[in-house]
Amino acid sequence: MKKIVLLAMTAVSAAVLSGCAGMDKSASANGGDPFATASFQKILKDDFVSKGQASVDRLKQTQHQYECSKYEYLGKPMPADLQKKLEQDAMSKVVYPKDGQYLGDWKAGLKIAEDGKGMQWSDKPGSPNGGNCLACHKMIANDPSQGNIGPELYHYAKLRGNSEAVLKYTWQRIYDSEAFNACSYMPPFGAHKILTEQQMKDVMALLMDPDSPVNK
Ligand code: HEC
Repeated sequence: MKKIVLLAMTAVSAAVLSGCAGMDKSASANGGDPFATASFQKILKDDFVSKGQASVDRLKQTQHQYECSKYEYLGKPMPADLQKKLEQDAMSKVVYPKDGQYLGDWKAGLKIAEDGKGMQWSDKPGSPNGGNCLACHKMIANDPSQGNIGPELYHYAKLRGNSEAVLKYTWQRIYDSEAFNACSYMPPFGAHKILTEQQMKDVMALLMDPDSPVNK
């Protein structure tokens, strides 16, 4: 399996660096920290420049990204207690809708799910980001361009119902998937402020509303 480095800049388009030459096995000399090698830090410094809102600050990994990249690089499973700790940490930071309402407008949600724009240097800072859900999930019928990195979500509420437990779980997933899988590939839409509370409600409605194309 390819080594990957999860970076703070992984917003919607999940930018990843693959198999960095600078991450040599001499990392073991750094207490198993592959990213502390001088050669790796030099590659980062030489190859990335800030442009617009996409600044090199994004190269600073979160603790989740750091630990996941490290164990993947070392080819070892993450210790179960560390994984549990990271997941509990993410879960404890989930912020629920202030008015207790999980559902917005599914039509707005569909646009967000289809929209992969946002957070790049060429995007206007402050303009709304997309969720790009369809890049990873099959959610609607008859659209061959949908991705399969994530599980199929077509007929989501039709299959699971719309109980309070399902609503809460789905919100937590969208807010921060790392609460369930410390090394999830799904962007933490709430935790990293990729989507606003209203946008998350809109994609919730896309998944839950019986009239949404997801449940048709
Ligand atoms: C970069 C890929 C990617 C994007 C973009 C993405 N997801 Fe996911 N999603 C995943 C993966 C992978 C999983 C599987 C679980 C895991 O590894 O965390 C997942 C899991 C889920 C689940 C839980 C599925 C289940 O069976 O319980 C939901 C709900 C979900 N995603 C909704 C969304 C929504 C809504 C969006 C857009 C706002 C979105 N995802 C965007 C990759 C993605």
